[in-house]
Amino acid sequence: MGPKLRSDRPWKTRSLRFDLILLFLVTYLPLSASNSHQAQGFCSIGGDSSCGLSSSTKILIKGGTVVNAHHKEVADVYIEDGIIVSVRPNIMVDDDVKIIDATGKYVMPGGIDPHTHLEMEFMGTVTIDDFFTGQAAALAGGTTMHIDFVIPVNGSLSAGFESYMDKAKKSVMDYGFHMAITKWDEAVSKDMELMVEEHGINSFKFFMAYKGSLMIGDELLLQGLEKCKSLGALAMVHAENGDAVAEGQKRMIDLGITGPEGHALSRPPILEAEATARAIRLSSFVNTPLYVVHVMSIDAMEEIAKAKIAGQRVIGEPVVSGLVLDDSWLWDPDFTTAAKYVMSPPIRKAGHAKVLQAALSTGILQLVGTDHCTFNSTQKAFGFDDFRKIPNGVNGIEERMHLIWDTMVETGQISVTDYVRVTSTECARIFNIYPRKGAILEGSDADIIILNPKASFKLSAASHHSRSDTNVYEGRAGKGKVEVTISRGRVVWEQGKLEVTPGSGKYIKMPPFGYLFDGIEKADAAYMASLRAPVQRSRAAA
Ligand code: URP
Ligand code: ZN
Ligand code: ZN
Repeated sequence: MGPKLRSDRPWKTRSLRFDLILLFLVTYLPLSASNSHQAQGFCSIGGDSSCGLSSSTKILIKGGTVVNAHHKEVADVYIEDGIIVSVRPNIMVDDDVKIIDATGKYVMPGGIDPHTHLEMEFMGTVTIDDFFTGQAAALAGGTTMHIDFVIPVNGSLSAGFESYMDKAKKSVMDYGFHMAITKWDEAVSKDMELMVEEHGINSFKFFMAYKGSLMIGDELLLQGLEKCKSLGALAMVHAENGDAVAEGQKRMIDLGITGPEGHALSRPPILEAEATARAIRLSSFVNTPLYVVHVMSIDAMEEIAKAKIAGQRVIGEPVVSGLVLDDSWLWDPDFTTAAKYVMSPPIRKAGHAKVLQAALSTGILQLVGTDHCTFNSTQKAFGFDDFRKIPNGVNGIEERMHLIWDTMVETGQISVTDYVRVTSTECARIFNIYPRKGAILEGSDADIIILNPKASFKLSAASHHSRSDTNVYEGRAGKGKVEVTISRGRVVWEQGKLEVTPGSGKYIKMPPFGYLFDGIEKADAAYMASLRAPVQRSRAAA
């Protein structure tokens, strides 16, 4: 177990000193065996203490309303060695147990963010939050696990995986990986097997946009969908028509529109809807489940709704920026202000967010991510003269839990149990790690938050934990405050103080064939039976 750091926001207030300390910790202190790649694998619930956090922290959370996705009750929660041992009223404990009074507060599973990009090389630069600062920010905002996207190195999945395992050595909370597929050949196909069977990756992402870098065409998408199906891995898509986006960008530049507003104008909702519909139809053709990341428009959401009505297994993931913001800032005369809102697909015109919220509240969209992909204002300024060079991405890993509470629960659009479902449980179920994650049940990992519905929050770059010097939610305030975050049985966030240990986060392997694959073979058999082919024919006598 490495040494602990206790500080408010050390890298913000004392960034140089902090960076040096972190460098020292990461570079010179021997990481314990539990931090090796091998030991970072999936630990069985309740048993093997060598794969949990090593100290035997005992915590009793008393008198709160314990909320799971399907039930809530006033109860105590007893935690030992990183695992939830008991959930019931009136638990009595010895004096050596830390007691946290949660009376009048909600005790909920820590958030799981299904969509982040920490230390990602993208558009000629690297996202400013790494696995330390991004995760520290997450914990301060009540998120205790995230799933990041591995980007292959020169198309190699294995090299990409190694590189991300390396980046994640400084992790302070649990994490898993999706893998992007950016080219297709026999090596990629074989590596997909390795990722699923050896490395615990059960989802692959296909970028239908970013022409010239990450984008793939329909032929590769089809091959990828087939391969995903055979492996029991979930296919994910960034759904925008990349060819049309390139045309749209050219159109804007020809019109002399070079600023951040050109970004939104060049890739309208119709291009998101077209790609969403295409991916949906191709996955229907293959009969494999599909996960559409960052659904930003009514148009794309309606394609998902249509597919669901037709019985297709399509998951739609809105992100917090799409749920609470609109595109008006992109027209701000100040470049830094406008550029911080540049992401893809773009944040849409006023009106889209409210409809996406309704889709979330009715289950058309199922879980909320962030697409946390932060660049500071210096990086954003690379595109001062040409919006095509503004690195795409916004923050959200620290803000998601608060904003979803305020926007969805405080307004009465969803219940407290649904809040747990869309911020945590559904992600754990889809990626096949429930109930180890996403639940407050006996035997689950002790990833827990305590939210005070009477307290309030305020968001700002001046107080956030990201390394970024801007925040797209600057000045936003609301009701409901995460007062305590417990990660693997350790209190890491309490009374506005963050206490994290580099290297303490564990890699969570995610097994294939999650619930979305149940019955797929029956549908395949029904399809085969429906063909009534080949028809046996005899040649007509000459
Ligand atoms: O603008 C975005 N979304 N940046 C991150 C990369 C992606 O497309 O998810
Ligand atoms: Zn994307
Ligand atoms: Zn993304």
